[in-house]
Amino acid sequence: MSIPLHSLRAGVIGTGFIGPVHIEALKRLGVQVTAICGSTKSARATADQWGIPEVYGDYDYRAMLASPNVDVIHITSPNKVHVEQSLAALKAGKHVVCEKPLGMTSKETAKIVKALAAPVAADVRGRKGASAVANPPPHVGGYPPVFAVNYMCRFFPAVLQMRALVQRGDLGQIMHVQGHFFQDWLQMPTDYNWRLLASEGGKLRAVGDIGTHWIDAVSFILGAKAEAAFAHLETFHKTRLRPAGEVQTFAKVDPATMVPYKVNTEDFGSVLLKFGKSEHGFVNGVHANASISQVAAGWKCDLYVGIYGTKGSVQWSLQQPNEILLGRRDEPNQILQRGTAGFSADVAGFTDYPGGHPEGFPDSHKMHYRAVYEHIASGRQTPVLFATAADGHHEVKLCEAILKSSTARKWVKV
Ligand SMILES: NC(=O)c1ccc[n+]([C@@H]2O[C@H](COP(=O)([O-])OP(=O)(O)OC[C@H]3O[C@@H](n4cnc5c(N)ncnc54)[C@H](O)[C@@H]3O)[C@@H](O)[C@H]2O)c1
Repeated sequence: MSIPLHSLRAGVIGTGFIGPVHIEALKRLGVQVTAICGSTKSARATADQWGIPEVYGDYDYRAMLASPNVDVIHITSPNKVHVEQSLAALKAGKHVVCEKPLGMTSKETAKIVKALAAPVAADVRGRKGASAVANPPPHVGGYPPVFAVNYMCRFFPAVLQMRALVQRGDLGQIMHVQGHFFQDWLQMPTDYNWRLLASEGGKLRAVGDIGTHWIDAVSFILGAKAEAAFAHLETFHKTRLRPAGEVQTFAKVDPATMVPYKVNTEDFGSVLLKFGKSEHGFVNGVHANASISQVAAGWKCDLYVGIYGTKGSVQWSLQQPNEILLGRRDEPNQILQRGTAGFSADVAGFTDYPGGHPEGFPDSHKMHYRAVYEHIASGRQTPVLFATAADGHHEVKLCEAILKSSTARKWVKV
């Protein structure tokens, strides 16, 4: 039995850059956004802007978790509170979509994996006591909550198509993968965000923040996990200037009001990865190399990946999200476009507009949440294409291996 998506109700924690991206995507899907949590002022302003009925100020997410009007919690707060908020949401019996990275350390993210493996508590199954509701969420009935990590790059149709090409063996045996994720919003020493502080965002910054998007997308395309890493990390701005208080992501601040601080996270990472075996057999021991930078002038948000096999190659750039370039040695290369015959029929389910009508970043969020909410609404009957807690946990373990490798100057197994 499946229920309509509009019968599911979302509560969003965090009102900064990405919180409203979740809200907009959910509204486009027809999902009800019933609650918002953040600082008192910004939660109120976000609620007013989007017409959200329940407002939880003072970052009081526990009060939001007690609401009977929320089925799915979206965690869009800074990294250091992801695990605490995820565990509390699971305890309250809510489904979760958590922003990446899943947490600060693998020790803490392991707790989420463990919590999801535990049997569903009777009070959550039956929703007795304080959490009794007239319209219970669909996980009532015994299965544990659904948990997704917001590695939404998987849901660009181009990424799904690259995955289909690899899985079908159209590229032959995959040999190597190459790419980058470049941004420039932290280029200047006066650019500030909480991510620059290891205590707020985690010990890896460029690799943890955007590099894990690249690694997750490549793992998804290949159908295999990275098992070992060799990395070189660089911090070009060892001292930076910051404002006296916190600022929202991508906000501009007057440098005259700033104070110096030491930077303990990397601006750039050069990462080699070795991937394990895929179930489909076309990936076994693939080598990958990626450059990750948040100081690459002129590159606002460019994720690029090239997959190279014995029969052909495929390339994709986030800056041209609607097409992929198929390369053949003895045939003309082809540009395959989303929404046209070049993309397979099953990928068409992840695009809403016809070819020639571009889709991009906000649409990848929409397609991701649709996949998660359909999984919930169908009672877990649809395939799990989204990143699970185990996937998010693996990414954090990989980040730790990357950091260790950069210090030890040798290959480190995950
Ligand atoms: N998937 C993506 O494409 C993507 C893009 C950007 C950010 N992110 C992730 O989203 C998260 C937020 O990033 P952002 O860029 O929106 O940051 P941001 O600083 O712009 O916003 C963070 C928000 O969280 C609020 N907040 C702070 N502490 C909180 C707490 N204890 N409880 C609840 N809310 C709290 C802040 O007031 C702010 O509204 C990060 O984990 C980041 O890695 C993901």
